[in-house]
Amino acid sequence: MSIITVDHLVKDYKIIRKEEGLKGALKSLVHKKKESLRAVDHVSFSIDRGEIVAYIGPNGAGKSTTVKMMSGILTPTAGEIRINGLSPQKNRKEVVQNLGVVFGQRSQLQWDLRLGETFELLKRIYRIDDRTYKGNLDIMDDILEIGQIIDQPVRQLSLGQRMRGDLAAAMLHSPEVLFLDEPTIGLDVNAKYAIRKFIKEINQTRKTTIILTTHDLGDIQELCSRLMIINKGKLIEDGSLVELIDRIAPYRQLIVDFYAEQAPICHPSAQFISGEGARQVLRFQKTDITAAKLIEDISKQAKIKDFSLEEAKIDDIIKVAYDQ
Ligand SMILES: Nc1ncnc2c1ncn2[C@@H]1O[C@H](COP(=O)(O)OP(=O)(O)O)[C@@H](O)[C@H]1O
Ligand SMILES: [Mg+2]
Repeated sequence: MSIITVDHLVKDYKIIRKEEGLKGALKSLVHKKKESLRAVDHVSFSIDRGEIVAYIGPNGAGKSTTVKMMSGILTPTAGEIRINGLSPQKNRKEVVQNLGVVFGQRSQLQWDLRLGETFELLKRIYRIDDRTYKGNLDIMDDILEIGQIIDQPVRQLSLGQRMRGDLAAAMLHSPEVLFLDEPTIGLDVNAKYAIRKFIKEINQTRKTTIILTTHDLGDIQELCSRLMIINKGKLIEDGSLVELIDRIAPYRQLIVDFYAEQAPICHPSAQFISGEGARQVLRFQKTDITAAKLIEDISKQAKIKDFSLEEAKIDDIIKVAYDQ
């Protein structure tokens, strides 16, 4: 059952462009040019309850704009969004009650309050009953070690602590859906690990549906069963990592160590990628030849000392997809 459906979603931003290269008095005479920029271009998808979906794409692709429309912050130019059957625009109150949103680049926490005071404020805004609030705080303390920082003013928190605070804040009202827009941006390895652990645990224990925007390939690999790739406002890929690799980068690499330096190996089913000393890297399509046959053929040309096989990785498919 889909919990989120997005149908031909479009967002145009109105931008005002001033004419360049004019000086002084002339400037005020020049009329400003109004233009429209299509940030999201007929994006459609649906997401099932309990999925963790990576929503990725280069900078400026339209990820944050999509998240903002889904969370009711922006109004779409066209298209439809349904979360649990409701529109974030028409039924903002109900939708927000069931939604947590975290923007890594912009905290929702109150700068001048202690973290715990911000939580109390949210408790009132969302009308969270005492039992739920206490229960959620305990869980967030277990996963994110919130207790250590709850009495500190938000402004004194490190980036990693602040992000833990933001994630806890987003979960206090037990939302079924969570949008995380670059939650690991700028974080060190330990903080990233804590955030990933949090995402895994709330997804497993609460079946929270999560859309995760990230540039971190480790995040995707560890957390996401499905990838949606957006580029220039258009959704260009949507599938599981395995399926995308099979379709976009269906090759493997054979790394061969010979006993001595060799001329690049020539083989009709393999492409020479690189060579260094006695090592050569060859790429081949899984559908063309088996690794065993390729190794057998190569060993007829030169004696092999050692070899290893590398599957295409997430960076390979992302590179191919972004270049499309
Ligand atoms: N408030 C805005 N006004 C005008 N243009 C915007 C605004 N916000 C974003 N954009 C533009 O829309 C496009 C998509 O931006 P965004 O959704 O932030 O991309 P992403 O999150 O994938 O980096 C970019 O070209 C960006 O410059
Ligand atoms: Mg963004």
